[in-house]
Amino acid sequence: MKNKIVIVSGGSRGLGKALCIALLESGNTVATFSRSKTDFIKEMELACPDNFYWQQVDATDSAALKKFVNSVYQKYERIDGLVNNAGATLDALLPMTTNDEIDSAIELNLKAVIAITRDVSRVMLREQSGSIINISSILGTRGFKGVSVYGATKSALDGFSRGLARELGTRNIRVNAISPGFLATDMTHGMSDARKNQIIRRTPLGRLGEVSDVTGSVLFLLSDSSRFITGQSLVVDGGLTC
Ligand SMILES: NC(=O)c1ccc[n+]([C@@H]2O[C@H](COP(=O)([O-])OP(=O)(O)OC[C@H]3O[C@@H](n4cnc5c(N)ncnc54)[C@H](OP(=O)(O)O)[C@@H]3O)[C@@H](O)[C@H]2O)c1
Repeated sequence: MKNKIVIVSGGSRGLGKALCIALLESGNTVATFSRSKTDFIKEMELACPDNFYWQQVDATDSAALKKFVNSVYQKYERIDGLVNNAGATLDALLPMTTNDEIDSAIELNLKAVIAITRDVSRVMLREQSGSIINISSILGTRGFKGVSVYGATKSALDGFSRGLARELGTRNIRVNAISPGFLATDMTHGMSDARKNQIIRRTPLGRLGEVSDVTGSVLFLLSDSSRFITGQSLVVDGGLTC
């Protein structure tokens, strides 16, 4: 995959950062946003002024998302791929969860994804091609204690991906989800060693995932190599849920 224009939400760190690097290294252009400008973003702006574009956007602001999508389209004149990566976990037992926490999880993990996907799909419809990937989670299909609200948002994202795949397929726009297992990022940083060891014991491939374990699957689903794949959810979890 080369010379594609791809939007990656939340490219400042974690999986989003790894995706930006993988896309740039394989000769593509990346447009990304996050709330904070990390050293990585500053480095990329200097190193790849033509192929890397970042804006400060809070994904829960749908007007700002729309402005971002329009600015990418104006700058690069097409959008070939969208990776909905920005997301946050909510680690709390439901009885201890506040309304604000529930709203925030749904706003970022679900509503923001729907809003930017709508805006990008309008651009892709003009081109009659595109690939959209929603970064879901195995917690959308398997139950784990303390993440019921997060799991609900990811489960909804899987349903959104399947429905949209049917809607946009006739226009050559594909929509798939990727469901990683537990990855070593800021999101799982606070997990206890006991929990990590328990997950590792139950994982056939015997370790937690790295962000680099997921990037190849994303690039595959963005590329023409997957041109007949849509409406699917690809699990990348070392076999934890097999
Ligand atoms: N880590 C895991 O174990 C794991 C497992 C399965 C699925 N996932 C999914 O993988 C995706 C990436 O996770 P990660 O582990 O890489 O997370 P991460 O390290 O916490 O990074 C999250 C990224 O999203 C951005 N972001 C968060 N809130 C935002 C907002 N309101 N507006 C704009 N950008 C925002 C962050 O930047 P700012 O904070 O600067 O805004 C950051 O760039 C998420 O969808 C997550 O649910 C992760």
